[in-house]
Amino acid sequence: MRPLRPLRRTATAVAAASTMTLSLAACGALGVTGDSSEASPTKGNDLTVGLLLPETANTRYDKFDFPIIRSKVLELTDKQGSVVYKNADADAGKQETQLEQMIADQVDVILLDAVDAHAISGGVQKAKDAGIPVIAYDRLAEGPIDAYVSFDNELVGEVQGRSLLEAMGEVDSSDKIVMMNGSPTDPNAKQFKAGALSELNGSVDIAKSYDTKDWKPENAQANMAAAIKSIGANNIKGVYSANDGMAGGVIKALEAAGVTDLPPITGQDAELDAVQRILAGEQFMSVYKSYPQEAESAAEMAVAKVQGHDIQFEALAQDQVDSPTDKKIPALLVPVVALTKQNIKDTVLADGIYEVSDICTAQYKSDCSAAGIK
Ligand code: GAL
Repeated sequence: MRPLRPLRRTATAVAAASTMTLSLAACGALGVTGDSSEASPTKGNDLTVGLLLPETANTRYDKFDFPIIRSKVLELTDKQGSVVYKNADADAGKQETQLEQMIADQVDVILLDAVDAHAISGGVQKAKDAGIPVIAYDRLAEGPIDAYVSFDNELVGEVQGRSLLEAMGEVDSSDKIVMMNGSPTDPNAKQFKAGALSELNGSVDIAKSYDTKDWKPENAQANMAAAIKSIGANNIKGVYSANDGMAGGVIKALEAAGVTDLPPITGQDAELDAVQRILAGEQFMSVYKSYPQEAESAAEMAVAKVQGHDIQFEALAQDQVDSPTDKKIPALLVPVVALTKQNIKDTVLADGIYEVSDICTAQYKSDCSAAGIK
């Protein structure tokens, strides 16, 4: 097997740094607590956080991001704060309207996960003009945002690319893979792709590469069917899929073409279906992103911003990123880990994302016991 290059950043080093920030915040050392006596005159605990999430095709937003943010805001405000949540269903125009409504309703702060990071910049400017801070959540919206909370998105791509090479074993630059990238309006998709290419370029032949409209599994399935037609199912050594939803579409296309011995396929998001596919050996890996770390930090930042706790806010956002419109944006980038059959217990189960009973349904009972999950 070819020697693998070490990753440019080690997840553990970054993990150590951000865990420190989080634990400081968790024990109240940063002062973001539910004690109203600590609230600055700017605003007390009866604050409203507007939350704009991009889509429902991926289950993470409704299942994890929203409920975690809501409960953290409640905890930080002695149950007096509230979260107004809108999901745009992958429609950039709809998200613009939702943002404008939040400005009209005078929410105190907006957490924005953009459908189209560029198109929303005018709306961000309107919020700024209305004196409402905007914190970009997960995807880096353009325009005058106050901060950004996300994962280390280039690392996501590196972890995926590197895992794919590991899973394929002995390969050379004539071996063909297919690359299924995310939505072109999502800046994270570009970073996932760049990170993956930094690992894959030169090692394999990327025979077909697609950007996938709206991250939709059915679009990935159609693109995969076209790739199979042109390359030949048996000539595909591996598939880079940027997320789990699309990995599901890729598998359907391969199965429809009669493939029974699936090549290694990557993913991201640790969706329940994907964790089960990983156990069953149908998908090689996913990327586990700790939703609690990202979502709770965003809630802490939003509350600190509204309440004028500048020191806490700065302590949370110690990284810096540039967007096409703004430079040196204060940021928090949470690290990620590869999720494979080997570490299901230490990731999604340890963090309480799923229960064993969610994963080990009748169909997966034997896979679970083979993997020592009970
Ligand atoms: C990305 C996000 C991923 C995944 C994807 C598809 O921006 O970082 O976690 O959700 O969108 O929705």
